[in-house]
Amino acid sequence: MKILVTGSNGLVGSYVVKQLLEEGHQVFASSRTPDLSAFSEHPGYRFVQLDFTDPYMLDAVFEAIKPEVVVHSGAMSKPDDCEQNQSEAYTINTAGTLQLLLNAADYKSFFIFLSTDFIFNGKQGMHREDDPADPISYYGCTKLEAEEAVKTYAYEWAIVRTVFVYGKPLYGRDCFITMIAKKLRNHEAYAVTDDQERTPTYAPDLAKGIAAIIEKKATGVFHLCGKEICSPFQMAMETADFLGIRSHQLKPVHTADLPALAQRPLKSGLDISKAQQQLDYAPLSLREGVRRTLEGTAGV
Ligand SMILES: NC(=O)c1ccc[n+]([C@@H]2O[C@H](COP(=O)([O-])OP(=O)(O)OC[C@H]3O[C@@H](n4cnc5c(N)ncnc54)[C@H](OP(=O)(O)O)[C@@H]3O)[C@@H](O)[C@H]2O)c1
Repeated sequence: MKILVTGSNGLVGSYVVKQLLEEGHQVFASSRTPDLSAFSEHPGYRFVQLDFTDPYMLDAVFEAIKPEVVVHSGAMSKPDDCEQNQSEAYTINTAGTLQLLLNAADYKSFFIFLSTDFIFNGKQGMHREDDPADPISYYGCTKLEAEEAVKTYAYEWAIVRTVFVYGKPLYGRDCFITMIAKKLRNHEAYAVTDDQERTPTYAPDLAKGIAAIIEKKATGVFHLCGKEICSPFQMAMETADFLGIRSHQLKPVHTADLPALAQRPLKSGLDISKAQQQLDYAPLSLREGVRRTLEGTAGV
């Protein structure tokens, strides 16, 4: 199938592109900045430099590609950045998604939107797909408004909500686990929250789940994340355990002690039963995900 992926230079987009190429799709990867990938020699791969908030660029790209599927993973994804630059966050996360939906409708593309556990308020945790949303950050608000637009799309759509994604960076910036590993190896002190519950997601698992949605033409909302609840501090400790670094300077702190611009949901995490049943989604354990993220990195 002809698939347009936005945000292909990002952590999620890079793994989505890799998975879809492995499954034999014709992938049109796109990002605002030039291609960072090493896929340029792959026969199924094309890169398009695209700012999806620019309607003229989008018109030209859709007309050239006529995608059967759009996987929209591009976003302003850092909650603090969104809190600080609200107009830009709205333009990218909400208005950009609306613009993509308009173009996708011209080609009746299957539209798959990447969303987040940050649309919930963090009071209850382990949310199911139909639980009421109540974002407590501007990032969460922009993603929820985009979700609402996707739900009005006249053709097939899916919304994929995910949580705290990690994985060996294919290109681009470190993920949380590789960043912690660097701090541990450099004996740097680092404070990590121990009172936020998450179900961290191994990026290749998420990419496989999205590929299953495409293959099964599964529509509606899906939660795709890890199966274990843990705090960022526990993730950091798992990293230290894997590296065998016993004497380290990781320090558990409460969210209130680490002032941040955007509020984070405390009890988060998503229930993945629907994806397990309908998509045969089978994520790795955190321990195995951390192992695969770090194996082959310096010093391991
Ligand atoms: N990572 C997580 O823990 C997590 C958790 C929950 C949900 N999500 C969702 O998953 C999706 C992907 O997240 P991620 O972690 O992969 O984010 P990321 O690493 O920050 O990547 C986002 C990508 O979006 C691209 N982008 C931003 N604005 C753009 C624009 N106007 N036009 C074209 N491309 C643009 C950026 O491209 P350039 O680099 O080229 O500027 C960047 O590569 C997002 O929708 C996010 O909300 C992520």
